[in-house]
Amino acid sequence: LKTASILVTGANGQLGSEIRTLVSQYPDFDFHFVDIADVDLADETSVRKFFEDKSFQFIINCAAYTAVDKAEEQVELATKINADAVRLLARIAAEKKMRIIHVSTDYVFSGEANYPLTEESKPAPVSVYGESKLKGEQYLLDLKPDSYIIRTAWVYSTFGKNFVKTIMKLASERKELKIVGDQIGTPTYAADLAKVILTIIDSIVSGKKDQPGLYHYTNEGVASWFDFAFYIQNFFSYDCKIHPIRTEEYPTAARRPKFSLLDKSRIKKVFAVEIPHWTTSLQSCLSKFQQDGGAQ
Ligand SMILES: NC(=O)c1ccc[n+]([C@@H]2O[C@H](COP(=O)([O-])OP(=O)(O)OC[C@H]3O[C@@H](n4cnc5c(N)ncnc54)[C@H](OP(=O)(O)O)[C@@H]3O)[C@@H](O)[C@H]2O)c1
Repeated sequence: LKTASILVTGANGQLGSEIRTLVSQYPDFDFHFVDIADVDLADETSVRKFFEDKSFQFIINCAAYTAVDKAEEQVELATKINADAVRLLARIAAEKKMRIIHVSTDYVFSGEANYPLTEESKPAPVSVYGESKLKGEQYLLDLKPDSYIIRTAWVYSTFGKNFVKTIMKLASERKELKIVGDQIGTPTYAADLAKVILTIIDSIVSGKKDQPGLYHYTNEGVASWFDFAFYIQNFFSYDCKIHPIRTEEYPTAARRPKFSLLDKSRIKKVFAVEIPHWTTSLQSCLSKFQQDGGAQ
């Protein structure tokens, strides 16, 4: 007998794909994976129709509008997916008594701090993406306070589009790369985040612990995008010199927080999770790429 039915949205994204790889480790969980083709979160009718004849114990909402720069132009679509859809999921979940594990971002912060940000730190987004994700959080906390919201940052994986793949491509093609060195945060391997999410569900289902609310989760340690890129270049010994530059030298449509180091004390304390250092996790991700035939 299965102990929990779990709907995973955004199933083809980085995090959704990493959760899929863990299915065999949780034989008691009944997973249902959906992406935009099955249910379009930007379309209320599509969402309502999907849930008409279905219910789950948990929804892990990995779906999001994640194109940070494009969001500056596509404000409406970003808001629909990152905020309005979360409000709708919260309402439906309340009706059907489903629990929600939602994923948010360090971009809800302004980046003005110079100390690790806790769940009590005041959010003040500086981009449309950050604004839309913060709205999603607020709807969920208001309408479905028994939800979990996990803020993460700088997510990469062997699946989907991400910074690691971009650097692998560019560093294998070019002799020099200029990478922003004055934005500080922590890279996060989606595989680690996926494990933590399932640990939380397991803890709820088994009656061990259930303490909903906001949580911060990234890998341990501190890095700039330059450090992140340098590690990748060094791992593969690409013949490419990486130079740190200032944010001003790499203009983007969206502003990004200068400093968004997240304090992970709460999740470590409540769920007794051990968080790997970002270099340890990046190394294991890059080793996977290597096993699969090197840089693609
Ligand atoms: N990536 C990061 O660096 C980062 C940093 C901090 C927080 N986060 C958060 O972490 C979570 C997971 O991120 P991720 O990196 O796994 O994202 P991702 O790889 O971009 O995956 C998002 C998934 O959502 C799907 N999606 C987009 N619009 C949708 C819609 N209207 N209806 C249904 N599904 C839709 C996407 O499908 P298509 O690909 O077909 O559009 C994609 O499969 C998100 O909440 C994100 O905001 C990410």
